[in-house]
Amino acid sequence: MSGLPTSGPSSDLSARERPLLEIAGVHKTYFMDGVTVKALRGVDLSVRRGEFVAIMGASGSGKSTLMNILGCLDRPTHGTYRIDGTEVSHLTKDQLAAVRNRQIGFVFQGFNLLSRTSALENVEMPMVYANVPAEVRGERALAALASVGLAGREHHHPNQLSGGQQQRVAIARALVNRPAVILADEPTGNLDSRSSIEIMAIFQGLNQQGITIVLITHESDIAQYARRSVRFKDGLISSDEPVAHPLDATAELAALPPLQANGLSDEAAPNAGPVAGDRP
Ligand SMILES: Nc1ncnc2c1ncn2[C@@H]1O[C@H](COP(=O)(O)OP(=O)(O)OP(=O)(O)O)[C@@H](O)[C@H]1O
Ligand SMILES: [Mg+2]
Repeated sequence: MSGLPTSGPSSDLSARERPLLEIAGVHKTYFMDGVTVKALRGVDLSVRRGEFVAIMGASGSGKSTLMNILGCLDRPTHGTYRIDGTEVSHLTKDQLAAVRNRQIGFVFQGFNLLSRTSALENVEMPMVYANVPAEVRGERALAALASVGLAGREHHHPNQLSGGQQQRVAIARALVNRPAVILADEPTGNLDSRSSIEIMAIFQGLNQQGITIVLITHESDIAQYARRSVRFKDGLISSDEPVAHPLDATAELAALPPLQANGLSDEAAPNAGPVAGDRP
């Protein structure tokens, strides 16, 4: 975040104390064809470094709108947004893109992989935009794929991978620039239940390494893998509480019956390992 101005009281706090993500009084109003939609109506939310937050709420309650703002894909109509103490709600598009590239990894329901491109090349892509030297890219992408249990699948194209494997490629891609936070919008929405738990095991492993995770989900059992649950209703936060007894995805996987030998998921225990492990 160097080179960007910091402002307000947050900059007085030490890096350890200040929230990583802090939105205050955020409204988002969409104007379309003469219709006004108030998607967010005054949201305050603070996420500290190392948290794992699930965002829940009915369809249309404003979850993705919030995610787009948190991810610097969109700006609030009113209100402030600070990332690590830096106000970003008034940055230009280019400045937002720079913040996004350095600080944020995205994972979406539909994986959003480039279809004519190998897993390896998909994972290398964000490093191209971040001007990571070519000789470093391949090595880092291989390590990221191995960390999500996909060693040996580097040259497969998305249509040669299962849904769970495609989502793991997307997670590896979200990790390679070593973001401070991963934002995931319904990452298990297209997956069967075993693959969903495998994805949650990866997220829990990353979170244990210190990566902050904000995950939108419709499924209350998926939210139980997070450590905090925030619920949206009609563009406002209606509840925000710790998850009393978070589930352990690795233990849940171990308790499932063994897989048939159908080759669907032969890397049952992905090890969210060394990629982010060398973060400061
Ligand atoms: N680009 C847009 N232009 C106009 N209206 C929009 C736009 N994006 C979202 N909305 C509206 O804002 C409201 C909140 O939408 P949002 O996508 O944030 O909901 P959501 O909670 O993510 O829902 P879902 O669970 O179905 O994904 C909805 O009424 C939606 O129609
Ligand atoms: Mg949504």
